[in-house]
Amino acid sequence: MSLLEFENVSYMYEADDYDIIDGLSFSVEKGSFHSIIGISGCGKSTIFKMINGLLVPKAGTIKVDGVSIENRKDYCGYMPQKDMLFPWRTVGQNVALPLEIKGGYSKKDRREIVENALSDVGLSGCADKMPDELSGGMRQRAAFARTMLTGSDLLLLDEPFSALDFLTRISMQEWLLEQWEKHKKTILFITHDVEEAVFLSGSVLAVTETPIKSLAEIKVPAGYPRTRECLTHSDMTSLREELIEVLRRQVKAE
Ligand SMILES: Nc1ncnc2c1ncn2[C@@H]1O[C@H](COP(=O)(O)OP(=O)(O)OP(=O)(O)O)[C@@H](O)[C@H]1O
Ligand SMILES: [Mg+2]
Repeated sequence: MSLLEFENVSYMYEADDYDIIDGLSFSVEKGSFHSIIGISGCGKSTIFKMINGLLVPKAGTIKVDGVSIENRKDYCGYMPQKDMLFPWRTVGQNVALPLEIKGGYSKKDRREIVENALSDVGLSGCADKMPDELSGGMRQRAAFARTMLTGSDLLLLDEPFSALDFLTRISMQEWLLEQWEKHKKTILFITHDVEEAVFLSGSVLAVTETPIKSLAEIKVPAGYPRTRECLTHSDMTSLREELIEVLRRQVKAE
């Protein structure tokens, strides 16, 4: 069953005189993990901002669980392109934000939920630290814990690991797959890293043209659980090359 559906969605920024998203339709099954790839500036983050309601489409409908998002609340967790922890709040206060926004939790309950969420992401004992006392990878995990506490089934992760060094990045990828399998969420994941897309996704949604009229869905020929060893299989390496080619063609067409 589709969790998310785009039906002929268009969007135009005021500064432009054309639709950057032009009649886009696609759907995402419940429990799936899709990466979205496409060249810089093609409109990937714009798609996320329409899903989470920060931007309102000019035309078309976006549905979650069959209901237009205009009539829904709390249906997605969003992790923006930068980790966006508020520097003046402790890590615990940052992670508690979705609970404060929802309301109805005592301070003690919030503290307990936050401690559990932090321990889930390997940050036990960090609640009282300030964000700038954490490493980049730790901040990303804190931001992820906050995204999880929205309690939503649909998670939108916009280049969450792009600022991390290679080793931290691959351990975060493995960790994210574990979280996904454990919490049974539906994840949309924007990345510029083709190998990351192949490693994580059930299928990759590629932007092949701008303005975005469609997304090409390319299945990843491997099941779960995944290990990095999967990446060495010949069908996986050829998929990686195919995706690089898709991006190259788009750069040339610009
Ligand atoms: N608030 C805005 N007003 C006007 N134009 C904007 C605005 N935000 C983004 N754009 C433009 O819309 C286009 C798409 O932006 P978007 O952030 O969706 O791209 P992206 O695919 O996420 O790129 P990147 O991979 O670099 O993050 C870009 O050309 C950008 O300059
Ligand atoms: Mg972006």
